Amino acid sequence: MSFYRSLVRPLDRLKPRLKRLPGAVPLARVLRYCLDARYRSEWHLRRARAPDLFQVTGYTMPGRYPVLFAGLARALADRRAARILCFGCSSGEEIESLRALIPDAVFVGIDINRHSIALARRRLAGTAVLLIHSGRIGPPGEARFDAIVCMAVLQRTELNQQLPARCTPLLSFAKFEAAIADFDRNLTTGGLLLLQHSNFRFTDTAASKRYAAAAELPARLPETAKYGRDDRLIAEAGAEALLYRKLAEAA
Ligand SMILES: C[S@@+](CC[C@H](N)C(=O)[O-])C[C@H]1O[C@@H](n2cnc3c(N)ncnc32)[C@H](O)[C@@H]1O
Repeated sequence: MSFYRSLVRPLDRLKPRLKRLPGAVPLARVLRYCLDARYRSEWHLRRARAPDLFQVTGYTMPGRYPVLFAGLARALADRRAARILCFGCSSGEEIESLRALIPDAVFVGIDINRHSIALARRRLAGTAVLLIHSGRIGPPGEARFDAIVCMAVLQRTELNQQLPARCTPLLSFAKFEAAIADFDRNLTTGGLLLLQHSNFRFTDTAASKRYAAAAELPARLPETAKYGRDDRLIAEAGAEALLYRKLAEAA
């Protein structure tokens, strides 16, 4: 728990009443900005309007996706020293959970939030995990990835809470599709893509035609709002696969 959280926790019960006091909300924001480094880093990210930014909050926790990560581990069972990229790894808990399941894998973590990457470096100190402060993967290096994991990144909390009819200007399908194209270029043929909590459907992208849903994980009903290629809210999005295997390279 952060220092700020431990400080304000005793006031949780009084919060609704405190919020009604004149000036209380702006004062609380200033206090939080001064005392909570994660809040501060997210405030600056939001303000900078970085074109690559998807989800702003770095919320994560250890063991957040036990079933999904176990499915990925099963799908990678025949690969030795698989190269796994965690895109939007936040403070590294996700990599820690995956390392426990796939100990011989080689991990790379990327996050657009410099503060989160610093926390991840501290958490994963003494391991061979490579942690990069960036908003995209960029052109493929010599070794592409056997799996790319992208959990709770390609979304915005505001869309899930307020369900506006259109997702622009917060996010757009074009931006989602560009991120998927970046993943696709950096994934080996036969490689796996694990996507959870996105505001768009992987199957709506052009690249998805060269992928098949992997049998190791059953389809699930989405827990986030879904928007179509036209950036309009989809009233009732059906179940979707979360784990995909790349079958072929782009022509
Ligand atoms: C809600 S957290 C998810 C953390 C972790 N993947 C999980 O599911 O527990 C979203 C993370 O995505 C990061 N993020 C947002 N846009 C990004 C981008 N373009 N490139 C890399 N990271 C990004 C944020 O900084 C944040 O740490």
